[in-house]
Amino acid sequence: RKAATIAKFKKMKDNGTPISMITAYDYPSAQLVEEAGVDVILVGDSLGNVVLGYDSTVPVTLDDMIYHSRAVVRGAPSTFVVTDMPFMTYHGSMDLTLRNAARIMQEGLAKAVKMEGGREIADAVRACAKAGIPVMAHIGLTPQSIHQIGGYKIQGKTRAQADRLLDDAKALQEAGAFAVVLELMTEQLAAYITEQLSIATIGIGSGPRCDGQVLVYHDALGYNTDASPKRFVKMYADVGSTIREGLKQYVHEVKSRSFPTADHAFHMEDEVATGLYG
Ligand code: KIV
Ligand code: NA
Repeated sequence: RKAATIAKFKKMKDNGTPISMITAYDYPSAQLVEEAGVDVILVGDSLGNVVLGYDSTVPVTLDDMIYHSRAVVRGAPSTFVVTDMPFMTYHGSMDLTLRNAARIMQEGLAKAVKMEGGREIADAVRACAKAGIPVMAHIGLTPQSIHQIGGYKIQGKTRAQADRLLDDAKALQEAGAFAVVLELMTEQLAAYITEQLSIATIGIGSGPRCDGQVLVYHDALGYNTDASPKRFVKMYADVGSTIREGLKQYVHEVKSRSFPTADHAFHMEDEVATGLYG
């Protein structure tokens, strides 16, 4: 299988073929996602929440993103990988923005970067696109601005807000973004933006009428300990319960000396130990 290209996403939109995207943050999750045939992997800065245990994406650093991105690309070498530019790494000088985006491509091995924001980041999008760095935009609820927004609120409910979001989407397309994530906006607005743009829209919490959908890996698979169910998420598996049960059983068997048994042990006549690291 060959990884998709940015041209493919446009073609998928034009053909009405839905684009499937999900996050991944490490080697095994990326392997499973690639095996499932997902079109795009997002190394999201949601890793701050679901992998690193922060209460927002704000503390996530560029080095964090690069570290996780490399692991994901190793696990999914044949999938288009987009990596988030984290908080405040694309708001300084254009030189610094380009250098940070370049690090995500060169060190993080991503095929594209994602940036949150509307017309105010259009220049950053344009500079990256001109330099050969594909940019996925992200509007609506933008978690890096959570302290500015003041909470996880549905976006685009007033006419003025909706007009502004549509103008943002158009400005980002014009600046050279190859796709745009629409997060937590009304279904009506997401559908309207999708119709008005020639680039693909990828929705999360924005209804069925986007060109594609994205979910956070841990949400979609129930891989959470503190899962407060989100209405827009569908849980396709409950791996948290599976892991919890497995771990309880492991502890029980060690304590009761029922693991390991002779089958798991090595004996004088054994030649080689298989399955070791390294
Ligand atoms: O970081 C992330 O997972 C995201 C998606 C929710 C779009 O940005
Ligand atoms: Na993100």
